[in-house]
Amino acid sequence: MRTQAGFRVPAHAVTTRNLGAAYPLVAEAGLGHRGVLIGHDLLGGSFVYDPFELYRDGVVSNPNMIVFGQIGRGKSSLLKTYLWRQAVFGRRAWVVDPKGEYAGLADLWGVRPVALRPGGSIRLNPLDPVQTAAGKPDPGGPDDPARRQSELLASLASACLGRSLAPRERAALDLALASARRSSAVPTLPRVVEALLEPADESATSIRTDRTTLLEDGRDVALELRRLVHGDLRGMFDGETTAGLDLSGPLVVLDLSALYTSAALGVLMACATAWLQAAVSRDGPADQAFLVVDEAWAILANLGVARWLQASWKLSRAHGVANVAVLHRLSDLTSVGATGSEQVGLAEGLLSDSETLVIYAQPPGEVARATELLSLSPTEAELVPQLRRGIALWKVGRRSFLVRHVVGSSERALVDTDAAMGRP
Ligand SMILES: Nc1ncnc2c1ncn2[C@@H]1O[C@H](COP(=O)(O)OP(=O)(O)OP(=O)(O)O)[C@@H](O)[C@H]1O
Ligand SMILES: [Mg+2]
Repeated sequence: MRTQAGFRVPAHAVTTRNLGAAYPLVAEAGLGHRGVLIGHDLLGGSFVYDPFELYRDGVVSNPNMIVFGQIGRGKSSLLKTYLWRQAVFGRRAWVVDPKGEYAGLADLWGVRPVALRPGGSIRLNPLDPVQTAAGKPDPGGPDDPARRQSELLASLASACLGRSLAPRERAALDLALASARRSSAVPTLPRVVEALLEPADESATSIRTDRTTLLEDGRDVALELRRLVHGDLRGMFDGETTAGLDLSGPLVVLDLSALYTSAALGVLMACATAWLQAAVSRDGPADQAFLVVDEAWAILANLGVARWLQASWKLSRAHGVANVAVLHRLSDLTSVGATGSEQVGLAEGLLSDSETLVIYAQPPGEVARATELLSLSPTEAELVPQLRRGIALWKVGRRSFLVRHVVGSSERALVDTDAAMGRP
């Protein structure tokens, strides 16, 4: 080969495997042809993706996905069409929909979204027990329903209080949960609040204290949780799950749009997600299903529930569920008000539990953080702020792709969220 200056340099021969590592994006062999079509790989060919196939082939070690992107870049459009295309393979989907925009998808699938409204007719019990995938769980192990209920309650309480729980508060809460579990097969938030406000003798003696002290220990927690039971948020998560909800369809959408402006959106979304996780585990076959939390930044805005979300993602794998979360910016992962190392740990934990990252345009101010957290190459870092609507950098395991998501003409109505903005 001759350079412009006329010097001769030896030709460089490498295997395609090494070339792919040396020139990410430029020399990528694609992810194969098993899965759903997402769109065009901008460097040639079509882009087909399936987390379960890739998991089976060892390309990724978990099927979870996080989609990042500024407002209006096409995150929800990607997910709606993705789930619809996955339906061809008989895969089911469960969606937490804080904006109420998955009704079109539900229509196509012939199901009705479950709409939650304060004081409405539908109740979901976030303390519904999770069914373990294989036999009886280890008591106290991460899959033990009692432990998961306790972790959810502690997260909700700490999110409502805006701080971590003190050891005595945590103990009072756990004892109240145990008492609620003794008094009925399925604990509910009102039963836990009741048990906090009227602790049983045996609860107090089990930690060598008296009932009055135990009541004082748990009073702040009870008063905060009471908001979900008696306050402005009542009527949604404060009782046993409404009987007769049909969850057998291929798609279950929880429409939380009536709560979108609530200051407690993150807490409510965590309740909804917890209920969905329990329902997925029971009402399977959850094998190879998707659990999508759109606008998940609202959950992550709160340290208590962010921790819970991260822990619960780990457990879904046993049920064959691929989790999908939608965030705006990388900083959503680190803006939860924890100390520096806790923030980074939480972000790193969620990222390592999500081996597919779909990155739509990020503001220039986010690039340094993205580069650090996602190990972007200099080329990728330069591209990320410039990506146009519908185009994203996909990082799947250790590989990168630049992909234009293609929306078919029959899918347009499904994705058009600009209509409300008055666009023709
Ligand atoms: N790949 C695409 N091709 C063409 N139009 C698209 C594409 N993706 C999204 N759009 C259009 O862009 C608009 C915004 O898309 P969408 O609602 O998916 O964005 P978003 O990133 O979810 O926004 P938000 O952060 O506000 O939720 C929609 O009207 C949709 O029709
Ligand atoms: Mg959206």
